Amino acid sequence: MTNSIKPAYKVAGIMGWPVGQSRSPLIHNYWIAKYGPEFGFSGDYIRLPVKPEDPNGLKAAIAGMRAMGFAGCNLTMPHKTAALPFVDHLDPMAKRMGAVNTLVFADDGSISGFNNDGFGYVESLREVGYTDFAKGSIAVLGAGGAARAVLLALADAGAKEIRLANRTDANAQAVAQKFADEFGVSVKAVPWANRCQFLEGASLLVNATSQGMYGQPALDINLDALPVSALVSDVIYVPLETPLLAAAKARGHQTVNGLGMLLNQARPAFKAWFGVMPEITPELRAKALATFN
Ligand code: ATR
Repeated sequence: MTNSIKPAYKVAGIMGWPVGQSRSPLIHNYWIAKYGPEFGFSGDYIRLPVKPEDPNGLKAAIAGMRAMGFAGCNLTMPHKTAALPFVDHLDPMAKRMGAVNTLVFADDGSISGFNNDGFGYVESLREVGYTDFAKGSIAVLGAGGAARAVLLALADAGAKEIRLANRTDANAQAVAQKFADEFGVSVKAVPWANRCQFLEGASLLVNATSQGMYGQPALDINLDALPVSALVSDVIYVPLETPLLAAAKARGHQTVNGLGMLLNQARPAFKAWFGVMPEITPELRAKALATFN
């Protein structure tokens, strides 16, 4: 009889509705195959379609994952905020964002909640050499969940001058007020009608609205006032090149699409479940890019 020690088996997944389009299984299963043999684990990362209609569905699904010995899961639309009541230990960043994108189940059954979206965003900029967040001013468009994650991460990364414009001005003002009152972060709300002048002198422009996403119209903005040295980023990754990024490229701007944010937010989650901080290899990026063909 051989006395081989079986590697630890771990399972994690992405819970959302819909989840069929998610690239997270590709990312995490790539890392499981890459790091598992070396670090002594095996595992699977699966799609967990949980419809929002059933009022007890999310609670039951999380309890079921715990019963089945999951290491944890990612949460995506529409569960990022709805999952908060089921978390025992909420990470400070997730608490500030009022949303979780990662759950980690401990051996004692307790659930910790994290939000790595902002980390993923800032890392995607560092990857292309945008590292001095305190320099220059940053123009952010949008005031929803994605915008709040971006704003908090930018502030934490040292951004000093942040301007915000949103279609519904009152939402931008409410975000600016909340950031000042609760986080001590200064964000200047600028009227949507002035969104073209608001680009003057910016070193970074971020689209965190839904405009330009597959099935949505292009963001209505004229880039003439934006210095050509500014980096233009979009949190959207379907399509990889939004009309905004295409227009920015045509003006000579460096651009960053939302794929970098997606890849980078996955790293700390994988570390929490499998114990290894994974790298975004050129091979992984190529595999992820190939899913858009
Ligand atoms: P997410 O969580 O992805 O950020 P969300 O919370 O629904 O999604 O936010 C969507 C963002 O896109 C909001 O900033 C929204 O602006 P409003 O606050 O005015 O709703 C913005 N948005 C949606 N439709 C838009 C449009 N046609 N033009 C400009 N901005 C739009």
